[in-house]
Amino acid sequence: MVIQKICCLGAGYVGGPTCSVIALKCPNIKVTVCDKSVERINQWNSDKLPIYEPGLDDVVKQCRGRNLFFSTDIETSIVEADLIFISVNTPTKTIGNGKGRAADLKYIEGAARMIADIATSNKIVVEKSTVPVKAAEIIMKILRANTKPGVEYQILSNPEFLAEGTAIVDLVEAERVLIGGEDTPEGQKAVQALCWVYEHWIPAKNILTTNTWSSELSKLAANAFLAQRISSINSLSAVCEATGADVSEVARAVGRDSRIGPKFLEASIGFGGSCFQKDILNLIYLSECLNLPEVAAYWQQVVNLNDYQKTRFTRKVIESLFNTVADKKIAVLGFSFKKNTGDTRESPAIYVSTTLLDEGAKLHIYDPKVEHDQIYYELLHPQVTNEPELVRKNIEIHDSAYSAVSGAHAIVLCTEWDEFKSLDYKKIYEVMMKPAYIFDGRKILDHEALLNIGFHVQTIGKRL
Ligand code: NAD
Ligand code: UGA
Repeated sequence: MVIQKICCLGAGYVGGPTCSVIALKCPNIKVTVCDKSVERINQWNSDKLPIYEPGLDDVVKQCRGRNLFFSTDIETSIVEADLIFISVNTPTKTIGNGKGRAADLKYIEGAARMIADIATSNKIVVEKSTVPVKAAEIIMKILRANTKPGVEYQILSNPEFLAEGTAIVDLVEAERVLIGGEDTPEGQKAVQALCWVYEHWIPAKNILTTNTWSSELSKLAANAFLAQRISSINSLSAVCEATGADVSEVARAVGRDSRIGPKFLEASIGFGGSCFQKDILNLIYLSECLNLPEVAAYWQQVVNLNDYQKTRFTRKVIESLFNTVADKKIAVLGFSFKKNTGDTRESPAIYVSTTLLDEGAKLHIYDPKVEHDQIYYELLHPQVTNEPELVRKNIEIHDSAYSAVSGAHAIVLCTEWDEFKSLDYKKIYEVMMKPAYIFDGRKILDHEALLNIGFHVQTIGKRL
């Protein structure tokens, strides 16, 4: 089967960039990315895309209107597509059974029901969202229970491994593409059809095929392994601070062993982002449901350690400022969960900021890419505070780091944006209250130089 038209349900951080790159690399395929949100689709069709991702603007400009379309007309795109990606959100459940841990599959189910209602010809349905193992069975059940006469479905698992901030490079030069399908002649034909799409630019040796369940579990496993490395190095950062060892030196020495490798050993204020915590909680819930409590407890510790790291850092800020930050002006530099993205989902900066606000601090926040409204949304959310108006009075959002730090008692650096490395810290020192404190939650600043200027400096995994 040759794929001529692709539809993607979900124009988010995954659906948008992934399908833009498919359109770029497969000019012979028409790709339509759909979303229920009119606002999101309008943004994809405008000059200001809904997400900031280096290189994305260029790719969209090259393909939009040629073979890449963003649309709310879900019906037409489903009808004409040979292959449909489901790329909708799969957040952690907030109510009911499995609350706080299980993945909420209501959007996956909604997408499957939409396809079943609309499709009038055979479709390959590809699960791109991150889901618990056996989620493809749910999609299959819904589709096959509602099939119109003569319509057949194949369901594939094709999890996405891109990281935000490097999505375009990750997609264009993917180390691996994973495709899981049913071990039947029709299932294997569908797998081959999707392989053909990726083979437009990915070497065949980088395309791995497995059964559906292995593919689903591999995605959860990959994120769990990555997060586990961060919690491991963060646990050692606490040992370093207590002993005088330096966590960067430890990471360098440990990572030199090729069996361990140097990547993802950067100690920090804790990992954030929409997926690591959600996917590990998903794995924990799955393990509990499978009656594997020891496995669940093992992965739970990765999340616990991450919470501990965020708490430990924030406590250090408060204790250093004579155990009170009430009415003190604190500059928070960086609000996104990592550099090169405007995404704030599960950003450690949210925990740091809310804790400081609870202690009565006045926050002056600057992030190069996060919209002001997004910062207010995160800090005034009903789950975060029941006094939004009071909190609003204690937050000021700035358009430059220099204006945020003016008159501040302390700087708390939460995101590793490159521009924070080259600020003029002498000038900053002059305009701050004394003693002037810097808490470098990302280990990116030149600590010796800061000490020489006169700052009191604290960082992660190293005594200064
Ligand atoms: P997102 O929230 O940015 O986007 C999801 C979009 O789906 C939303 O715009 C929503 O309106 C839309 N949607 C929901 N139901 C729909 C329906 N029935 N029809 C059309 N649109 C619908 O989410 P995301 O960050 O793109 O993540 C999507 C999935 O990919 C999640 O399962 C996530 O775990 C996984 N993932 C995310 C990343 C990442 O970096 N963000 C990386 C790999 C995998
Ligand atoms: C992560 C994975 O890297 C992707 O492969 C995966 O596809 C994606 O999750 C997903 O499923 O959503 P992402 O969350 O976008 O990607 O970004 P990462 O680069 O993994 O960073 C996650 C968090 O860990 C950030 O807060 C980052 O600052 C932190 N981190 C990362 C560290 O604290 N130390 C490190 O060494 C690396």
